[in-house]
Amino acid sequence: MKKIYLYGNWKMYKGIEQSENFINDLGEYMEDNSWLRQMLKNDRLEIGLFPSFTSLASAQKVLTSTGLDKMNVHIGSQNFYYEEKGAFTGEVSWSMLNEINCNSSLIGHSERRHIFGESDEMISQKLRSALSNGIIPVLCCGETLEERENGETERVVARQISTSLQDLDNNKSVVENIIYAYEPVWAIGTGRSAMPEDAEDVCRYTRKCISSVLGEKYSGNAKILYGGSVKSSNAESLLNQPDIDGVLVGGASLQVDSFLDIVKSFA
Ligand code: PGA
Repeated sequence: MKKIYLYGNWKMYKGIEQSENFINDLGEYMEDNSWLRQMLKNDRLEIGLFPSFTSLASAQKVLTSTGLDKMNVHIGSQNFYYEEKGAFTGEVSWSMLNEINCNSSLIGHSERRHIFGESDEMISQKLRSALSNGIIPVLCCGETLEERENGETERVVARQISTSLQDLDNNKSVVENIIYAYEPVWAIGTGRSAMPEDAEDVCRYTRKCISSVLGEKYSGNAKILYGGSVKSSNAESLLNQPDIDGVLVGGASLQVDSFLDIVKSFA
């Protein structure tokens, strides 16, 4: 049975207290549900939680104090800036993430691309910086509705993936760390998930794009997540697709029950 990656992107929801409460509730849920303990212990499940910047340090502390950090559960940031320090008002650097033992980050989420204008080039710089500085990158890609309707899905995904990956130092140990997330923009937060076969097609294509830049040796084992309106009712058929290794969840990740229901059928 394949290992499932269950990642929760909390976006601009949950302050410090709510983030801490979620992690404590997750600990209690785990006590009461041996299926979850077993899945995590047997490395059949990895959970990633992505709180807001202000909640990161305290979420990390609660994760450690509850021992969940030893149970295949980790905390990541939703973004960071690729320089170590400097006159970049409003930004948070990778070194600041290192300081609080936060060693993973989303990169190029569609809301960063489309609301905050992050370019492929900036995302590529963030990817490089993450790989050089101990941050596991979760590289997001995906087309808008207009691009899908114009038949441009593959072109857009190929561009996003190849711009990010080209000229990477082909050091196996770091490049292998990249986690990919295919998130069609039209499916994010809309309640309209991609059909499992359509999501599979693009995830398979994403693997092909990884292969054409990095080679098959990297693409075969690459972890590719699907994101966009994932919930317990559609997760099973998505996760059963051969090229989908996990899910990046927004709305349904905000409550412990709705989040864990996503993987319950795989227990
Ligand atoms: P959603 O968000 O599950 O609410 O659609 C997914 C995401 O933005 O990563």
